Amino acid sequence: MQNKFYLTEKLPPYIFAAMYHLKMEAAANGVEIIDFGMGTPDSPPPQFVMDRLAELSLNGKMFAYSVTGGIEILREAICSYYKRRFNVSLDVKTEALVTIGAKEGIASLATAISDSENYFVVPSPAYPIHTFAFALSKSNVVHLPAIKSQDFLRDFKKFVEEKVSKGEKKPLAVIVNYPCNPTTEIVGLSFYQEIVDFCKQHQIYIISDVAYAELYFDEKDKPHSILEVDGAKDVAIEFSSVSKSYSMAGCRVGFAVGNKTLISALYKIKSYLDYGSFNPLQIAAIDALSEKSDDYLKNLRLLYKERGEFLCNLLEKELNWVVEKPKASMFIWTKLPKKFSHLSSFDFCKKMIEETGVVMTPGSSFGENGEGFVRFSLIRNEEETRKAVAALKKVF
Ligand SMILES: Cc1ncc(COP(=O)(O)O)c(C=O)c1O
Repeated sequence: MQNKFYLTEKLPPYIFAAMYHLKMEAAANGVEIIDFGMGTPDSPPPQFVMDRLAELSLNGKMFAYSVTGGIEILREAICSYYKRRFNVSLDVKTEALVTIGAKEGIASLATAISDSENYFVVPSPAYPIHTFAFALSKSNVVHLPAIKSQDFLRDFKKFVEEKVSKGEKKPLAVIVNYPCNPTTEIVGLSFYQEIVDFCKQHQIYIISDVAYAELYFDEKDKPHSILEVDGAKDVAIEFSSVSKSYSMAGCRVGFAVGNKTLISALYKIKSYLDYGSFNPLQIAAIDALSEKSDDYLKNLRLLYKERGEFLCNLLEKELNWVVEKPKASMFIWTKLPKKFSHLSSFDFCKKMIEETGVVMTPGSSFGENGEGFVRFSLIRNEEETRKAVAALKKVF
């Protein structure tokens, strides 16, 4: 009987699963693990969100199937959030959809729009689903280097213009993700306007992911939505979720907004695949997206900002590892320390897990252009961070 399958053979092991095994092995050998790996928020969500969820979970009527695309009152709350936060008006029936997290939304959209003939431009490095959504739907991906957004934009335009001049097929869509996981970079409205104008001219869709839009550390760096710029709705769909902003990653509530054609394609595929998240989670997400969360967000931003500064300062002081402080997101992203630059990012992280228990994510797990870098998630408190840097110091 066949025991090898096309996709399971083609896909590499998911990085966080691979890191998990290394971590478990080190723990079994008696190493104390301090985990800066996966970007899973360690804070509880706002108290009023937990209270609402607790109350609704006791109502037996809530356990029925929900609806594809999410309950209407949540779609309305998403539209109100976009109006309040980005001054973007959305039509609740045709321009907003609830997903089971941004990850599921992007993967389902890829299923909806892919075929074996078309292809997608994806930044490298990138959050893995930006690449593998298309691999999973057996479509094709072209990666362009994206350590800096301006280089990516320049190379993308050049790539498309060359295709056009040779009469070859253009990509169906391009992915953008700012604040970026893993690089933490943010972009201004001029970046979005330029890529929207270009994509409109060449009839290419844009898939934007703003999962970290609320995690910024200075008003002047406040992230934008691509939908803020003129003409964006003609080509762009944007994904986000309550996972990172409100520390509700386990709730699996996300959303897609923007271009009607893509929203409708996504809806159609989702109507075959799912019935939406548990109703109480969707209702709790309505609370999270409201102004009631303003203070919560202020505190969360401060927490990640302080953790980022603390970790960067300690790495420099104790290990002479100079690391740029992030302006947004919940990560720091940095080149491997000079002393270990002869190692691959995976081998460096493996060595650090085995010898110090400190877990980082190798840059190569975000794509070829992430090689030479590592990512720390800012999910550990000061005491744990101090301990981790002390453990690293012994090996450095
Ligand atoms: C850029 C980016 N998009 C989306 C996600 C997934 O978000 P969700 O929990 O909404 O599926 C992540 C999670 O790490 C991410 O980094």
